[in-house]
Amino acid sequence: MEKGQLLYEGKAKRLYATDTEDVLYVEYKDSATAFNGEKKAEIAGKGVLNNSITSLIFDKLKAAGIESHFIEKLNDNDQLVKKVDIIPIEVVVRNIVAGSLSKRLGIEEGTVLPRTIVEYYYKDDDLGDPIINNEHIDILGIASEEEVQALYEKAQQVNDVMAPFFKEIGVTLVDFKLEFGRDAQGNVLLADEISPDTCRLWDTETNQHLDKDVFRRGLGDLTEVYKIILSRLGGQA
Ligand code: C5P
Repeated sequence: MEKGQLLYEGKAKRLYATDTEDVLYVEYKDSATAFNGEKKAEIAGKGVLNNSITSLIFDKLKAAGIESHFIEKLNDNDQLVKKVDIIPIEVVVRNIVAGSLSKRLGIEEGTVLPRTIVEYYYKDDDLGDPIINNEHIDILGIASEEEVQALYEKAQQVNDVMAPFFKEIGVTLVDFKLEFGRDAQGNVLLADEISPDTCRLWDTETNQHLDKDVFRRGLGDLTEVYKIILSRLGGQA
């Protein structure tokens, strides 16, 4: 399939048209950003790693009956996905307290939550992606009540598959962010990526950070820990 016109460039990916109406070409870049773009770096090899990791995870979810926009990995940096209109809500699922939740509620990082919680953030760089609830979503008119229910249920399903799956490979799934879109028929479909850029992944034995916190907090070499995740998932670095 031909890589067509560049449609959109985000912080970590570029989207291109293809010769098929409802299929897009996604290119994973080597850029790393944090704190709403305030911290930036080019990290050679990051795009290749995230493309592989995301592809393996979407395949794993598909095998467990959870559909996403992912069609196939094409080469080192590129994959094909179904075209969707992204719903401007970041859905965050948390099993263990970390990051912004720890700061917001003053609960120590690492505290195991009594139950999984789901949060919504309004995807708007100018506003700094503020946390929102169902009523904010309603007044913003960005998703219907039924769609929010679908986001909630799908997010829980993804966690129910991913948490035990990561546990098997010695990784604790602390939290993660999902994005969803509407396909041409208006169905809500899991989209974007699932990678160490969008998940907090801690080594089960040592609690070593195997995710983007290595970059956010300056804890070492990001590609080294992403390689650990890829190889534990059974992929080739
Ligand atoms: O920063 P915070 O603690 O709210 O992040 C929760 C989870 O969502 C983390 O796994 C983080 O990597 C992910 N996240 C993301 N993109 C954002 C904000 C958070 O992938 N814009």
